[in-house]
Amino acid sequence: MSADISTDLDRAARLLREGEVVAIPTETVYGLAANALNADAVVKIFEVKNRPHFDPLIVHVASIEDAKKITIDFNEKAQLLADAFWPGPLTLVLKKKNSVPDLVTSGLDSVGIRMPQHPTTLALLRSLDFPLAAPSANPFGYISPTSAQHVADQLGDKIPFILEGGACRVGIESTIIDLTTDTPVILRMGGISAEDITACIGPVRVNTSSSSSPQAPGMLISHYAPRKKFVVGDLDNLIEIHRNKKIAVLSFSRTYPAQINKVLSPTSDLHEAAKNLFAYMRELDTMDHEVIIAEFVPEIGIGLAINDKLRRASADIASH
Ligand code: TXA
Ligand code: MG
Repeated sequence: MSADISTDLDRAARLLREGEVVAIPTETVYGLAANALNADAVVKIFEVKNRPHFDPLIVHVASIEDAKKITIDFNEKAQLLADAFWPGPLTLVLKKKNSVPDLVTSGLDSVGIRMPQHPTTLALLRSLDFPLAAPSANPFGYISPTSAQHVADQLGDKIPFILEGGACRVGIESTIIDLTTDTPVILRMGGISAEDITACIGPVRVNTSSSSSPQAPGMLISHYAPRKKFVVGDLDNLIEIHRNKKIAVLSFSRTYPAQINKVLSPTSDLHEAAKNLFAYMRELDTMDHEVIIAEFVPEIGIGLAINDKLRRASADIASH
């Protein structure tokens, strides 16, 4: 099989109704979608991604109304957050109804839901009478895809169709917040900053700690990982330490004296940096050098999410 890439919405809808998996664009990253209410379709997502079953999926909906149909307690904070940030890069974890298969939630009694801000995928969702379960469309543990071609490069021989939606505007995954406890808990930093969430609903806790069996998301310690050795720290230092090796440099805004140097945002714009992050990591991962060295970005707003990805990308060099 070799996946077709096109903007043909009807074809995507037809395949999804037939219980197939289809890659779909969102504003964050491309997702690998299937009918969220059909366990036989959802199981294919796990197979294609090689994803462990303890890692639950995010369900994508076309509206707040559709989110209410699959949750028990769409509470006041959920309403405030959805009104403020949907469609957009924010996933709400809420108590689920029985109609959501255990496979989607890894047996949890809660479900992660978001309304994506991408015109093509919103149109697709509106044309279907079921929501779409979709994790990022990458092999488990690897860098998430921010273009249709990224998906084709890695999963093209495993899925029939990729819905073309251009380059992802945000470029990193959604922020995930658990609203099932009295004080909401941010489980993953992403496209919406903690500051913006607090301004909307008041104090939250942040628990993005990693484990090998995450209650949360892409929160395995090693995630978003390139295959090449990837280190993060002070670039001048790292360039000196690795002076005898072939290196590639991934910097925030300055250019560095290295043969290969990708600059995330020459104007120091964190949103631009987020948008470029995964595409640049991927590009560097395919080039001819031994080590990728990178630096952290300013720890404010969406910068926290970028730094989290960089940390996880560098986490377990020993295993790959
Ligand atoms: O931006 C995004 O969120 C992208 C696009 C495609 O929407 N999706 C995405 O999915 O990043 P994925 O599978 O790579 O990460 C989703 C994470 C999972 O690792 C899962 O642990 C967490 O969301 N999650 C889902 N449901 C959850 C739940 N009920 N409780 C806690 N965490 C949950
Ligand atoms: Mg992922």
